Amino acid sequence: MLLEVKNLKVCYDTAMILNDLNLGVDQGELVSLVGPNGAGKTTLLRAITGLVRWEKSTMRGARAGDITIEGTVHFAGERIDRLAAHEIVRRGLVHCPERRRPFREMTVTENLKAGGYLCSDRRELQRRLEMVYQLFPVLKDRGNQISGKLSGGEQQMLAIGRALMLQPRLLCIDEPSTGLAAKLKQELFERIKEIRSSGIAMLLVEQDVSMAFKLASRNYVLSHGRVIAEGTSEELLKDETIRKTYLGL
Ligand SMILES: Nc1ncnc2c1ncn2[C@@H]1O[C@H](COP(=O)(O)OP(=O)(O)O)[C@@H](O)[C@H]1O
Ligand SMILES: [Mg+2]
Repeated sequence: MLLEVKNLKVCYDTAMILNDLNLGVDQGELVSLVGPNGAGKTTLLRAITGLVRWEKSTMRGARAGDITIEGTVHFAGERIDRLAAHEIVRRGLVHCPERRRPFREMTVTENLKAGGYLCSDRRELQRRLEMVYQLFPVLKDRGNQISGKLSGGEQQMLAIGRALMLQPRLLCIDEPSTGLAAKLKQELFERIKEIRSSGIAMLLVEQDVSMAFKLASRNYVLSHGRVIAEGTSEELLKDETIRKTYLGL
């Protein structure tokens, strides 16, 4: 397994957000993570990529609550759950967060170049930029425009493009299609397929369960911080309780 999460627990104060959670993503595999609002999907991505620990480390002085994190996370055979977020990124585990937020006053191209901050080789950076432009031609067309002026769909593509500039081995994408019109949503999923074909593994959190299940080779269903079901799309859709209770299908 490229990513292996074992017995992960996250508590905010006394609230158990993730409870004894196990999950894995193989090399080049696209795995979906679905489940109702508040199930803990975003917290899981943030825990894997070191952001929950960062949050904990930035808590100052006496605070009413505290954050507890237990369990292990391995990436490419290495234990990473004690590493800082920037060290995790360096290993090729990249997080594309929920609310798409480019640096609004920078141009599209500047945003993409900023995304490649770990790469100091200018030719390599240019090669990645061309690769992102090829995947999202609209970003090339809008290259010199101020990012804050992009439409919601374009900003989402920019957010993914920016993450790709880091040349991830595993890309964790949090709810990319939220708020997009049907046509744009469809296009975004086509691009996600292309990213998968290029060999980048993905852990995709998605509200559109039908769509996620079409893309993913395996899926995890989360509820109240626990994995309540996992399997291929076919397996999960066969289970009527899961389908009705957790998937809304
Ligand atoms: N920083 C935080 N402090 C306290 N509680 C949080 C924090 N982040 C998330 N939670 C709580 O954790 C639960 C899971 O949230 P989240 O991971 O955002 O779920 P999802 O992404 O599946 O909607 C929610 O009950 C939320 O209120
Ligand atoms: Mg979320």
